[in-house]
Amino acid sequence: MKGKILCKTSKIPDDIARIPRFLINILSFHWLATPRHLPLAVVGEDMVDYIGTARLRELLSRIGPARFIEELAGEIEADYKRWNEFEKSARLASHSSVGVIELMPTSDGKLYSFKYVNGHPKNTARGLLTVTAFGVLADVATGYPLLLSEMTFVTALRTAAISALAAKHMARPDSRAMAIIGNGAQSEFQAIAFQRIVGIRELRLFDTDARATTKLIRNLTRLQIPDLNVVRCASTAEAVRGADIVTTVTADKCNATILTPDMIQPGMHINAVGGDCPGKTELHVDILHMKDVHIVVEFEPQARIEGEIQHLGGEGQVTELADVLLGKQPARMNDRDITLFDSVGFALNDFSALRYLQRLNAEQPDGGQRIDLIPEVEDPKDLFGGLAQERANARRRKIA
Ligand SMILES: NC(=O)c1ccc[n+]([C@@H]2O[C@H](COP(=O)([O-])OP(=O)(O)OC[C@H]3O[C@@H](n4cnc5c(N)ncnc54)[C@H](O)[C@@H]3O)[C@@H](O)[C@H]2O)c1
Repeated sequence: MKGKILCKTSKIPDDIARIPRFLINILSFHWLATPRHLPLAVVGEDMVDYIGTARLRELLSRIGPARFIEELAGEIEADYKRWNEFEKSARLASHSSVGVIELMPTSDGKLYSFKYVNGHPKNTARGLLTVTAFGVLADVATGYPLLLSEMTFVTALRTAAISALAAKHMARPDSRAMAIIGNGAQSEFQAIAFQRIVGIRELRLFDTDARATTKLIRNLTRLQIPDLNVVRCASTAEAVRGADIVTTVTADKCNATILTPDMIQPGMHINAVGGDCPGKTELHVDILHMKDVHIVVEFEPQARIEGEIQHLGGEGQVTELADVLLGKQPARMNDRDITLFDSVGFALNDFSALRYLQRLNAEQPDGGQRIDLIPEVEDPKDLFGGLAQERANARRRKIA
C-alpha cells in the first residue's frame, strides 16, 4: 500500500494539499522503506500510481530498453526462484474467431497482480496492434490497488526478458547467432534482450511481410548496437541455417509450421514465443518428438493448453523453468541436445514487471502521476455520503 504517513487522523488537513511535490516524493520514499501495515492512518492511500504509455516512454528513455530488460530479467529470475510462494492458475481466456482476450492473475500473499491482454493477429491489417495490455498491482492486506499501468510496451519487454533469461540457462553458452522469424511488434525487444543478456552478435531475420523486416532493421540500426551484424534472409530456412538460437515470434491464428524438423540442427535452442493459444502454434509437431529435445515451459498446466506442447495431448515430459533456474533440473545435458523454450506468457512474468515498474517509477525524482481510482470517503461506512464529497475530491486533485 502506498500512502503518505502524515498524521494519526483519517481526515486530510487542508494544508496537506499545499505540500510541495518534492516533499511528497521524499515522504513516499520514506514510506517505501518503512515496514508495512503500521497502525497509523495513512493519508492518500486511496490514490493509485498510474503509468500510462507516455510515462512508460519517459522511464524507458531515462534508463534505456536494454537495461530495463536486463534488470527485469533479474526480477523475474528472483521471483521464479520462489515459485512455491505464488498462487498459480492458467489464465482465463475468452476466444473469438479473430483473437483472444485474457486475464492473468497471480499473488505471493503480499502483492496481487493481474494483466488484461489480447491477441488479434489480423489487427495489423487495420492499423492496430496484435497485442495490447494493461495491468494492476494490489496490496493483499487491504485489497487496494497500488498501481495501474500500461502493459503493451511492458508485455514486449517482459517477454523478451524471460526469453533471454531462459536462453541464458538453456542455450549453448557459445551461442552468438540468432534467427528471428516474425519481425513485428515484439521483435526489436527480443533482439535487444538476446544481444544484452545472451551475447548474440548476429541476427538473421525473416518475415513473410518484407516491410516488417525493413522496419526491424531500421530500428536496430538507429540503436547503433556495437558488434551486432544484422542479416536479411529470403526464407525461414535461410535465416535458421547456421543459427545457434531460433526465435519464432509470428502471429497467425492457426497451427502454423514455421519450423520443420529438417531445419533443426544439433545443439540449437528454440525460443518459441508466437504459439500461445489453443490452435495457435508455430512448430511442426515432429520437432517435439525429436531425439534429445528438452522442453521447458513457464507453468505446465497453462502450457499444456496454450503452448506448442498442446500437440502432445498431455503426454511427454516437460520441465518448468523454475526448476531449471533453481538447479533442480538441467535444461540440456550436452552441446548436441536441442532445447525448446515453449513460452506462452505466464502471470508471474507480469507480476515481476509491475513490481519492478512501481519501484522504478517511485525512484524517479518527479515521482510520477497518481490517480483517484478509489473513492476517498471520510466515513468508510458512508460511501453514499462520499458521492457528495466534492471538497475532498478537489483536494485530492491538487495532491495528484
Ligand atoms: N509468449 C508470450 O509471452 C508472448 C507475448 C507477446 C506476444 N506473443 C505472441 O507473439 C506473436 C508476435 O506478436 P507481435 O506483437 O510481434 O505480432 P505482430 O503481428 O506485430 O508481428 C507478427 C509478425 O509475424 C509475421 N508472420 C506471420 N506469419 C509468418 C510466417 N509464416 N513466417 C514469417 N513471418 C510471419 C507477420 O508478418 C508479422 O510481421 C503473437 O503471436 C503474439 O500472440 C507471445
